[in-house]
Amino acid sequence: MKFIDEMELQGKTVLVRVDFNVPLKDGAITDDNRIRAALPTLRHILDQGAALVLCAHLGKPKGKVVREFSLAPVAAHLGSLLGREVPLAPDCVGPDVERMVAELKPGNVLMLENLRFHAEEQGKTPELRGDFGKRLAVLCDVFVNDAFGVVHRANASVVDLPAHAPVCGAGFLMKKEWEYLQMAIASPERPYVAVSGGAKVSSKLGILKNLIGKVDHLVIGGAMANTFLLALGHEVGNSLAEREMLDQAKSILEQARKAGVEVHLPVDVVYARSVEDLEAAGTCSVDSVPGDAVILDVGPATVREYCEALQSSRTVVWNGPMGLFERPAFASGSLELCRCMAGLKQARTIVGGGDTDAVVHLAGLEKEFSFISTGGGAFLEFMEGKELPGFKALKEYSV
Ligand code: 3PG
Repeated sequence: MKFIDEMELQGKTVLVRVDFNVPLKDGAITDDNRIRAALPTLRHILDQGAALVLCAHLGKPKGKVVREFSLAPVAAHLGSLLGREVPLAPDCVGPDVERMVAELKPGNVLMLENLRFHAEEQGKTPELRGDFGKRLAVLCDVFVNDAFGVVHRANASVVDLPAHAPVCGAGFLMKKEWEYLQMAIASPERPYVAVSGGAKVSSKLGILKNLIGKVDHLVIGGAMANTFLLALGHEVGNSLAEREMLDQAKSILEQARKAGVEVHLPVDVVYARSVEDLEAAGTCSVDSVPGDAVILDVGPATVREYCEALQSSRTVVWNGPMGLFERPAFASGSLELCRCMAGLKQARTIVGGGDTDAVVHLAGLEKEFSFISTGGGAFLEFMEGKELPGFKALKEYSV
């Protein structure tokens, strides 16, 4: 794979695929981490004396022009971060856009409108994607993919554009994501601890199975821990759990045992009386969960045990919160674990997934982690050991 620092950019028009799929509330960006994460690549391109064109998606407009998914607020915000004007083109392909791009001078920036306003961007087959990638490619001399968050999607801008662009390569964000996550998959320093949380075992099955062969400790929290507790014969009251996944949970525990991986599950939990009444009703041992309880966080004894498992670690990968951290009454487990990881000075600490990232920001500890991935689904699929279509395309066409 060729990276941006090996590419000749001066005087060129460089098209960059970024992942600016950021959360918006009433038209305002509520978290701009993904935009900031692309800045080193964008600044490098401008410093090299190139004209910069950006393409991105926002939300799921499903092939239609949906005004609330316009990239206008993103372009305005990027302009303030770069300290220069970032006009938004009315579309991302076609003669008007080609004209706007042709007029760009070195140092100019142009943002293209949402790629997903065209159904071809997400066409499931090459036929359905048609010549969309080619129509994007005509806009540039050089194509750079820096959109790690969509590297798992076989979208036209991810897999077809590199094939048609005169020259292509990966940006600095892609490089950093690749290096950190590849290290965690292929050459982690030991002891290696994986911390997995979130709602469902089913969505984490791939990553759990792949990590079992690699880690020394597997720490499990969040609602997915309930499924494991059930599999071990504990009662979890009315808590969220996947009863259809009990055999899978048992099989993961068995595989871990065979591989010599120490699995850590909650020993105590914080619960509410019902989903309608989300106040903390109490903390109890996993052996005495009331029949009507809804488990919403791990308890203090669990956090102490989890932190102990982390103390001697040299590599930590964390994906998924320990509880319903959006509610202060159930945030302690996630926040305490986050503080504990942030204090591990001898370990490389890697965080992935939007919710986990949100916990780290809630704790105000983002600077204390070695690396926070910008990927949600992309992070999970990378850690599952899958070959991601975006990397495959760059490997094939950037040499
Ligand atoms: C993300 O937010 O994880 C990426 O931008 C991919 O978005 P998608 O899940 O809508 O493809």
